[in-house]
Amino acid sequence: MSEHARTSGGPADAAPERGEAWRRRTALVSKLRERGALQSRRVERAVLAVPRHRFVPEVSVKAAYQDEVVVTKRNSEGDPISSASQPSIVTQMLEQLDVRPGQRVLEIGAGTGYNAALLAELVGEDGAVTTVDLDADSIRRAREALEATGYGRVRVVHGDGEIGFADGAPYDRVIVTVGTWDLPPAWWEQLADGGRLVAPLQIRSSEHSIAFDYSDGVMRSSSIVCCGFMPMRGLGAHQSQTVELAEGRIITFHADREVAAEGARGLLDERGTTVWTGVRVLPGADVAQLSLWLACAFTGYGRMNAPFGDHGSLRLLLRWANPAVVDGGDFAYVACRRADIKGEVELGVRGHGPAGDGLAHKVAEQIQVWDRECRDHVRLKLEAHRPDSGPIAAGRFVVPKRHSRLAILVE
Ligand SMILES: C[S@@+](CC[C@H](N)C(=O)[O-])C[C@H]1O[C@@H](n2cnc3c(N)ncnc32)[C@H](O)[C@@H]1O
Repeated sequence: MSEHARTSGGPADAAPERGEAWRRRTALVSKLRERGALQSRRVERAVLAVPRHRFVPEVSVKAAYQDEVVVTKRNSEGDPISSASQPSIVTQMLEQLDVRPGQRVLEIGAGTGYNAALLAELVGEDGAVTTVDLDADSIRRAREALEATGYGRVRVVHGDGEIGFADGAPYDRVIVTVGTWDLPPAWWEQLADGGRLVAPLQIRSSEHSIAFDYSDGVMRSSSIVCCGFMPMRGLGAHQSQTVELAEGRIITFHADREVAAEGARGLLDERGTTVWTGVRVLPGADVAQLSLWLACAFTGYGRMNAPFGDHGSLRLLLRWANPAVVDGGDFAYVACRRADIKGEVELGVRGHGPAGDGLAHKVAEQIQVWDRECRDHVRLKLEAHRPDSGPIAAGRFVVPKRHSRLAILVE
C-alpha cells in the first residue's frame, strides 16, 4: 500500500474556457438542475469548473457530458469494477454531503479522480481532500488526471477503503462512492464528531445513498436518495446471490447471501394470486422510501429484475430493483396497475407458492402501513449504532450488520 501527497496550484484550465467541452458542460448542468439532481450554487460552480472529459479520455467529449456512467474497468467476467459515476448521482451525493470551504474530506473509491476534483473545488485551497482506491491502476490514473487538471493537491492513496485513512483523520466529511453493506469501524473512528458521512448503503439488496450526521456515537440520517453502485471489493466485500425466477426468461431475484433465496426459483411459472392495496403512487416517486421500508420489514427482501418487461401478466412497479420477498417456498413481488388518477398507479402484491397468498397479504399490509405513516419523506429516518451500544429506543425495525445496527424510525 502506498500513499502520495501532492501540493500544486489550482485548476489548470480555470481561465474561462470556451468550445465544445464548455458548451456541453453547461448543458449538463442545466439538465441536472431540471432533474433536481443539482440545487446549490456551490455544487454547480464545482461541476462547471472541473473538466469531466479529462477524467474519461476513453470516451468522446460528447459522451463525457451525458448524464451517464462511464465504465473504465471490468473484471475477467466482464462486470464493471471502476467507473466515473453518473453525474446526477455524483451531484446528488455532493448536495447530501454539504461540503464547506476549508473542510477535510475523505473519499472512498477514487476511480477516475473526477469526484475528488469536485471535492477539491468545494473545500478550496484551505481544505484537504484524500481519496482512496483499492486498485493501483485506478490510483495511477486518478493521480495523473488530477495533476493534469490542476488538482494535484488531492491526496491519492492506494489502500482498502474499509480501513479508511487514519493519517488524515479526523475528517469533517466522508463520502463513499462504492456500494457498501456495512459501516466499518474506521469510518466511525475517523469521522469528526459533528461530521457527516454519505454512503451508498445496501440493506438486504436495496441500496440508498444515505447522509448520516454523526454525534454522540450515533449516525442519524438527514437525507436518503435511491442509487445503484458497483459493490465494494476487498475487506468489506459482501457477497449477494442471484436466482433465476422463471424457466427460460430473464427474470432474476437478487438477495443478500443470508437470505434463503433458492425457494424462489421457478415459482413465477406456478399459479399466483394478487392482493391490491388501494395505495397509489406516481411511478418513480416515493419508491425509494417504499423499497427501504420493505427491505427493513422483511428479512427475505431482495430486488427483482425483469429487464425485458417479461414478468407474466402483471406490471412490475420497477423494471430494475423491483421490491420482492422470499419466505421459504413462497415468493411475493410488488406490482401495479393504472389508477386513472393523475397518472398514478395502484400498488398490488403478487404471491406465488403454497402460502404465497399469505405472504402477499403480509407485504401488502406493510405497504399500507408505509402509506399511512411514512409517505412524507421527512419522517422516515435511519439511525446507525455500533453493535455494542446498548438497546435502540423507538426503532421501528432494526437491521443487524457486522459492525453496526441500523434502525428505521418514523418521526
Ligand atoms: C464507482 S467507482 C468511483 C467513482 C469515482 N469516485 C470517480 O469520481 O470516478 C468505485 C471505485 O471504488 C473502488 N473500490 C472498490 N472496492 C474498494 C475498496 N475496498 N476500497 C477502496 N476502493 C474500492 C473501485 O476500484 C472503483 O474505482
